[in-house]
Amino acid sequence: MGAMPDWNQRYLDGDTPWDHDEPSGELRRVLDASGLSPGRALEIGCGTGVNALELARRGFAVTAFDVAPRAVDRARARFAAAGLSADLRVASVHDVGDLGAPFPFVFDRGVYHVLQREPADLAALHALLERVTEPGSLWLSLAGNANEPNEDAGPPTVGAPQLASEFDERFELVDLHEIRFRAHLDDGTPFAPLAWSVLRRRRGAGAAARTSDALG
Ligand SMILES: C[S@@+](CC[C@H](N)C(=O)[O-])C[C@H]1O[C@@H](n2cnc3c(N)ncnc32)[C@H](O)[C@@H]1O
Repeated sequence: MGAMPDWNQRYLDGDTPWDHDEPSGELRRVLDASGLSPGRALEIGCGTGVNALELARRGFAVTAFDVAPRAVDRARARFAAAGLSADLRVASVHDVGDLGAPFPFVFDRGVYHVLQREPADLAALHALLERVTEPGSLWLSLAGNANEPNEDAGPPTVGAPQLASEFDERFELVDLHEIRFRAHLDDGTPFAPLAWSVLRRRRGAGAAARTSDALG
């Protein structure tokens, strides 16, 4: 929780190497490949909303939140410019309120990898995911990859063993593979740190049957 003001300051300062005007290619790929019908979708830590907007453009009813007010302002402007709407909130995983019915699809890009550094943040993420998903819900998480150690320039990284075990009690691992993040250095130079694409499905009675058709 102590880092909350820093995130907003980073957006105010333009210190946001992850921020992009193009939606994540991996999000698009997974949505195309899964054949998931547009339904309710939640983005955790949506930043300036480019991926939330991609979901909305595909017909999803989007809820998205971020702890940084400046980022959410930009997300709202992005949606307004596109003539689309979403439930966009300034909130933290610690305090986001009632989000309504469970979401068949949850997405985060670069948020789990931030939250896993602090036990209290990670616990809040676990509690949130339990609350906002139901058996069969899919969660796509894009995270920094420890197979390519970086010094100061890259995102926080995690290893495959951690990803395989971290949420195992509630989510089965559907797919884990390496991708590259689209990012930029301070001077604007494109930068593509190694990352993970992690697709998980909430365990529970009938969960696999509910999403197996969609996933082929
Ligand atoms: C690496 S950035 C990624 C932003 C966005 N997902 C993207 O891909 O552009 C991490 C984001 O997580 C947000 N964040 C950090 N801690 C958070 C928390 N506790 N609750 C909600 N959002 C948080 C930050 O404000 C920031 O926008």
